[in-house]
Amino acid sequence: MKGGEGAILVVFGGTGDLTHRKLIPAVAQLRRAGLLKGALRIVGYARQDLDDESFRALLRNTVEGEGTDEVIADTCYVQGDFRQEAGYARLAKRLTELEEGNSYAGRLYYLAAPPSFYTDIFRGIGGAGLSGEENGSFRRIVVEKPFGRDLSTAEELNTVLHQVFDEKQVFRIDHYLGKETVQNILVLRFANGIFEPLWNRRYIDHVQITVAESLGVEHRAKYYEEAGALRDMLQNHLLQLMTLIAMEPPVAFEADAVRNEKVKVLRAIHIPSPQDVQHLTVRGQYGAGEIGQEKVPGYRHEPDVAPASTRETFVALKLKVENWRWADVPFYLRTGKRLQQRASEISVQFQRAPQRLFPREARLKPNVLRLRIQPDEGMTLSVGAKVPGLRIELRDVDMAFNYDSFGKRGTDAYERLLHDALSGDNTLFTRKDEVEAAWRIVDAIGRGWQQEESGPEIYPAGSWGPESADELLHHDGRRWHLR
Ligand code: BG6
Repeated sequence: MKGGEGAILVVFGGTGDLTHRKLIPAVAQLRRAGLLKGALRIVGYARQDLDDESFRALLRNTVEGEGTDEVIADTCYVQGDFRQEAGYARLAKRLTELEEGNSYAGRLYYLAAPPSFYTDIFRGIGGAGLSGEENGSFRRIVVEKPFGRDLSTAEELNTVLHQVFDEKQVFRIDHYLGKETVQNILVLRFANGIFEPLWNRRYIDHVQITVAESLGVEHRAKYYEEAGALRDMLQNHLLQLMTLIAMEPPVAFEADAVRNEKVKVLRAIHIPSPQDVQHLTVRGQYGAGEIGQEKVPGYRHEPDVAPASTRETFVALKLKVENWRWADVPFYLRTGKRLQQRASEISVQFQRAPQRLFPREARLKPNVLRLRIQPDEGMTLSVGAKVPGLRIELRDVDMAFNYDSFGKRGTDAYERLLHDALSGDNTLFTRKDEVEAAWRIVDAIGRGWQQEESGPEIYPAGSWGPESADELLHHDGRRWHLR
């Protein structure tokens, strides 16, 4: 951090659950690990009528985790409406007071408020003159997802945001990018010489990306009824994973070099026509079922869900990347709630050997590199091997690596991302053009669905989603690896 040491973290929506669930524990961990230079002063900004003491008391009641008490003791609070200037003026005054006699390196504004207030907050910050960098002291803003609900709302958000902040001051969160296993995709691909020559249409048959959750919609139906799996997960997390798998090697491991390559992938993805949407996408909604031994209700019976809701809780689709590396290599993506287990995995299936030399070789599975994002983080490469003995008998075996073998705890995504935002490193954050390119794809799918007469297919909770998702692959002579 340049200038002084430490920083001020202003959390808009400071009384919301992101603060106590993620931010305070992440700050506490960074502090314990000695990764924060100087003090990090947290200022909560929200509508509730609280003062510093009652804000701290509220946090103490909700935050759990080692070292969080010290972090909470150092927080303060500014009461303010997101839509009224007076609150921002109070915030400006409070920030100036806090900075008097302290040489903080800068301020990080964090949007943990409902997305409908984002533009008001951008304008409020701008109006109170809080965004300009002064004397080398940084001003940065972290924006939580969802970033817009379609391309046009995302563009509007970006326009207002850019009236107040430059793109390099902006940190759009996709917490999947902060996961260790996701960061490892680039290391695996570009720090090892053996993969790159094979990483293309000559050797790769297809790619699968699954992000499966066993949880249901929980208490978030008000948001989820608007979003659904397409906007909640696919637009961001799954497409981001896909860019990391499909991108070209960047010229440097630097924010813009990496993001330039990612955005090229998004732009190369074929935008599906309504007919493509009909054939190449599947949407589902969970019905009642069992997860483990527990009976769980269907989506339409969850609190705050409309009894005839047609919101999708599952989506599977096949995407094409139209460039030299990937032409004709399908990418199958799937995500859903209330699936059989929580498991996120990317698998890269290689083509078979061109000639069959051994008896019953056809029974071997093709080579598959499986990257387990979570849980049980690790990777395996399946290969055919000879079973010991006189006969030539072949079997599939796994070469396996598990993250546990490092013998140390990985950094939580929020710790990583907060650390990077404080250090001014945007590599693991999504850029304006990336977000917009992702919406272009998702909007086309949404439009296609709107033209369909039928709604989502109901799948039993605890299954792997609608049967049509299996058929999507069977049709191409393939099957999901994770099932
Ligand atoms: C969030 C979605 O972005 O990611 C949630 O809004 C989802 O619906 C969550 O449950 C999954 O994150 P993770 O880290 O648990 O895989």
